[in-house]
Amino acid sequence: MSQQVTLIATAAMGIEASVAREVKALGYQDVQVENGRVVFTADASAIPRANLWLRTADRIKLQVGRFKAFTFDELFEKTKALPWELFISEDGQFPVVGKSIKSKLYSVPDCQAIVKKAIVERLKKKYGIASWLKETGALYRVEVALHKDEVLLTLDTSGSGLHKRGYRVGQGEAPLKETLAAALVQFTNWKPDHPFIDVFCGSGTIAIEAALIGQNIAPGFNREFASENWSFIPQPDWERAFEEAEDFAKYDQPLDITGSDIDPELINIAKQNAVEAGLGDLITWKQMRMTDFKPKRKNGYLISNPPYGERMGERKEVEQMYRDLGAMMRDFPSWSVYILTSHEQFEQLYGSQASKKRKLFNGFIKTDYYQYFGRHE
Ligand SMILES: C[S@@+](CC[C@H](N)C(=O)[O-])C[C@H]1O[C@@H](n2cnc3c(N)ncnc32)[C@H](O)[C@@H]1O
Repeated sequence: MSQQVTLIATAAMGIEASVAREVKALGYQDVQVENGRVVFTADASAIPRANLWLRTADRIKLQVGRFKAFTFDELFEKTKALPWELFISEDGQFPVVGKSIKSKLYSVPDCQAIVKKAIVERLKKKYGIASWLKETGALYRVEVALHKDEVLLTLDTSGSGLHKRGYRVGQGEAPLKETLAAALVQFTNWKPDHPFIDVFCGSGTIAIEAALIGQNIAPGFNREFASENWSFIPQPDWERAFEEAEDFAKYDQPLDITGSDIDPELINIAKQNAVEAGLGDLITWKQMRMTDFKPKRKNGYLISNPPYGERMGERKEVEQMYRDLGAMMRDFPSWSVYILTSHEQFEQLYGSQASKKRKLFNGFIKTDYYQYFGRHE
């Protein structure tokens, strides 16, 4: 078995529970949920698996140490005492980034320089190098994050954020992050045999994430990760993780997923994104005004991220659209409706109280996820 590690799956505020559920579904039991992150311990093969499979996490960080520090000396000595050589190879490159919140050590450039120096000293001693470290090999991005004098030292295993699935060739004005779109689907009871529509699909993110979930396709299948070249992760662990992703995909699972939008340009972009995601013509794309939606089947799910009406001159139109949506969906009581918006009067405009609400951030915008459960027939 490979080495035990502590991993941190970072997540947007509000979707930690979804990340924790996904981590447990991968078979890792020792899971703690904190603000903005989910911490779990596992052997190193969890690094490829978590990067490949977690749909709602932002990135996977490896925790090297966590301790209190009130002085630069303490930061230096405690950093130097950590076993960096277990992770960073002799020729590894390790730039240090940092952040500090409500801590005595508030100068981030100083913290970064001290951490860098401490790791250099540690590695030179452990690798028996008298001169300088070459830093020509694999990339290990170190982060020193201070919060209320607690120091968290991590290595970023993901590289670019996990929302970068590799399928987005085009986007509209306000695309949803892929991780949030996946969470919106996971917060519902939608199953692959239920009809699904996003009537404000834009570049198609929610429908594409639903199709990936529906066919159990690993979201990271089309991309690379920073830790693919790390020597302490046995190469077979990566190979097995990619093979597992291939074995678990259900490419034959039929789906009834539609994305529609009033803007024909966006429908073209959504189509291209879906092709890039390897979904071909699995999703039905339609240029259509929201009010023209007529469900053909029962027990469906409408999951959408409509305009919020925050822009000048747009509010009245958006409010009318919410009224129209409510009036329209009242004729289809077996359908469940899930809407993400920042508009605080959404329920009044839609015409009924949501079965459930969940506070979520869409980037920096505070939103609510309004959930109306349909009566399945
Ligand atoms: C916030 S964007 C959705 C972004 C999308 N979730 C994505 O990831 O790209 C809202 C979308 O609603 C569409 N829209 C606005 N009014 C509409 C209407 N009456 N019927 C259908 N779509 C409409 C806009 O063209 C826009 O693409």
